[in-house]
Amino acid sequence: RTLNWNPVMVEKQGFKHFMLKEIYEQPGVVRSCLEAYIDTHWTAADHTHSPIRLNLPADLYADLQHIQIVACGTSWHAGLVGKYLLEQLAGIPTSVQYASEFRYAPSPLTPHTLTIGVTQSGETADTLAALAMEKQRRSGHSAEFQARLLGITNRPESSLGDLVPHIIDTHAGIEIGVAATKTFVAQLMAFYCLAIDLAHHRQVIAPTQLEQLLEGLQQLPAQIEVVLESQERYIEQLAHDFAETQDFIFLGRGINFPIALEGALKLKEISYIHAEGYPAGEMKHGPIALLDAKVPVVAIAMPGTVFEKVLSNAQEAKARDARLIGVTPMDEHEAAETFDTLIPVPHVDEILSPIVTVIPLQLLAYHIAARRGLDVDQPRNLAKSVTVE
Ligand code: G6P
Repeated sequence: RTLNWNPVMVEKQGFKHFMLKEIYEQPGVVRSCLEAYIDTHWTAADHTHSPIRLNLPADLYADLQHIQIVACGTSWHAGLVGKYLLEQLAGIPTSVQYASEFRYAPSPLTPHTLTIGVTQSGETADTLAALAMEKQRRSGHSAEFQARLLGITNRPESSLGDLVPHIIDTHAGIEIGVAATKTFVAQLMAFYCLAIDLAHHRQVIAPTQLEQLLEGLQQLPAQIEVVLESQERYIEQLAHDFAETQDFIFLGRGINFPIALEGALKLKEISYIHAEGYPAGEMKHGPIALLDAKVPVVAIAMPGTVFEKVLSNAQEAKARDARLIGVTPMDEHEAAETFDTLIPVPHVDEILSPIVTVIPLQLLAYHIAARRGLDVDQPRNLAKSVTVE
């Protein structure tokens, strides 16, 4: 099966690269997801029914005790954010595995397990093989158990669509840049809505919290626009400093740990700079030995449960002479005490913040790669969709 679009047929609409165009499409993608997934007329007074419309049958949620997510690359990072949401909002134990690893050491399965495959293309061979295995493992069991397979994809008409009985369509439109950007935020939107829907079904979320989350989600497109409008030029300038850099560390904690991984992956993919994403608290158990004045550290510091911890982990990096870049809503004066360089982002509820914090990291990777004169949309050795195992 091959992808049925031809990149040269699609316009860049004035952007130098498809990747930058797709980064700028993200507010619109989030709006499309909101329109598709959320009943805008819902108020807390209607709490007997869910505000979320994913068109999934109610029995998919009945007696769920475990969720396992399988994916590769950027989609695996979306799965890690998904785990955080499914556990913290809906209270369902969730595991996330690389599809290529999972196939040879699958977790024990129970009839109460929902398996979710995340793949923007719907064609990644390892993810398809893992899901085919899960389908096989369920055969001969009850129809309800066999139906507990869900795909999150940007291409419902893909091989994934043929394989699994249920799909959440991520509505991002065709993505041409090999490094995923808009499909990632769309996958996150799918996980927010799935976790909220499950939390509602299980009656583990208060109507007021639900209302706050929905209001917060509605504000995300404008908040992404603020980052794009206020930071792109600045990040383009900042990228000059890093054209010769050889190593980068990205730190985050909690729901922003997967965003640190994603920031590092974007940089590796398109700029060929070695980068590692780490949970900020783990840095002292190894990677801190790498730090010196030549290794910039990007720390994602959003107010919330892990804010102070991230700031103190960031200080540990600064004490090793690393140039410390903060992605944070702290004001300039506060931030100046902690960070050498500030990339300001709007104040966003911690649980929704990944959709905002990932934007400057995409821009940073993009501008460093563009500055180095690299082929941003077609990086060496990479394919948009890896159809071999
Ligand atoms: C390839 C791409 C990555 C992508 C991964 C998973 O390796 O280069 O950017 O994240 O595949 O793709 P999928 O289509 O399954 O989300």
